[in-house]
Amino acid sequence: MAAGPNAALVGDPGARARLATPCLLLEADAFEHNLAAMMELVRGSGRQLRPHVKAHKCTAIARRQLEAGAVGLCCATVREAEVMAAAGLTGILVTSPVTAPGMVERLARAHDRVGDLALVVDSEAGLETLSAAGVSAERPLGVVVEIDVGQGRTGVTRPEDAVRLARRTLDPPQLRYRGVQAYYGHLQHVPAYADRKAKAAEQWARLQPFLDALRAEGLAPEIVTGGGTGTCYLDLEDGPFTEIQPGSYLFMDKQYRAVELAPGGTAPFRTSLAVAARVISANQPDLVVLDAGIKAMATDAGPALVASGASPDAAYQFMGDEHGGLRFSTPAARPRVGDLVTLVAPHCDPTVNLHDWFHVMQDGRLVDLWPIDARGY
Ligand SMILES: Cc1ncc(COP(=O)(O)O)c(C=O)c1O
Repeated sequence: MAAGPNAALVGDPGARARLATPCLLLEADAFEHNLAAMMELVRGSGRQLRPHVKAHKCTAIARRQLEAGAVGLCCATVREAEVMAAAGLTGILVTSPVTAPGMVERLARAHDRVGDLALVVDSEAGLETLSAAGVSAERPLGVVVEIDVGQGRTGVTRPEDAVRLARRTLDPPQLRYRGVQAYYGHLQHVPAYADRKAKAAEQWARLQPFLDALRAEGLAPEIVTGGGTGTCYLDLEDGPFTEIQPGSYLFMDKQYRAVELAPGGTAPFRTSLAVAARVISANQPDLVVLDAGIKAMATDAGPALVASGASPDAAYQFMGDEHGGLRFSTPAARPRVGDLVTLVAPHCDPTVNLHDWFHVMQDGRLVDLWPIDARGY
């Protein structure tokens, strides 16, 4: 991959002022802190970490997570799994059902490289497609039965269906039953810790009959996987999981900054990700215009926050594909044309997906560029 428009600035002390924008900044110190803090938390719980690649789509970061002690990697797309496997990264679990025959065959090829790939299923038809994917019986493909824990999206809804699917994975020698996934995405951003824990506990109770039924049939899951950044503390404290799948903890976007992640309101993770933008126009009395609009940041979680370069009270607004406005109550506080402003991404995953490179920053210097190499489908 050619190294992008800022490649010549790596190591240049004046890089920040000269950055081509918009671009994605990753503050190395905060990133390292988050990487280590989650690992420490998981280690202390006696469970495992299988972090989700969907947040970063970057083999350089995935490798760091494995080196830090993660048991494997979760992937949301076939492309993520292919790219991770091609980089020799192991322990991949694909967390969404894949049913297109051609895409299942791609996963089978990725599995050929690493030998321990697994993916979730929640239907007989999906299982049949997997059985026909041309996997060798000597290195069976892992299968994890997905259970719906209240999100009402993917996952079986009745214990007898989980048992039936798990039992069916025992027939074809190309498949190997590994366990269950129970992911409650709808709970991740419940703001108060106690409320989130109460809602999660309802789902743990809902999961129990599934686990009991599987155990009663000799299908005890080796893996019970689920949970994200929002529920990591409570999942590790009391949850039914053998491993958790958080992704956003590395970055801490605007949405997660509003969530009381740990009991007592301590902030275990720091914001490491920012969108760097430049002021390109300032002809309105209370507004400056930045070169970062909806093609630089996901819009699903509302406007960005100012991280640096302007007053934190300035209100960002999307003003088009390539434009964003910053509105000021005190016009004198406006940054000038050409100034750099950094923004906290509203939602990290779909924002990262819009960029080619993480610009790794340390003490205000650009120290490295990491390609976001697992984008696409
Ligand atoms: C199945 C699954 N697991 C884990 C995650 C990670 O969640 P978070 O980024 O909130 O930590 C996601 C995110 O959407 C997900 O879909």
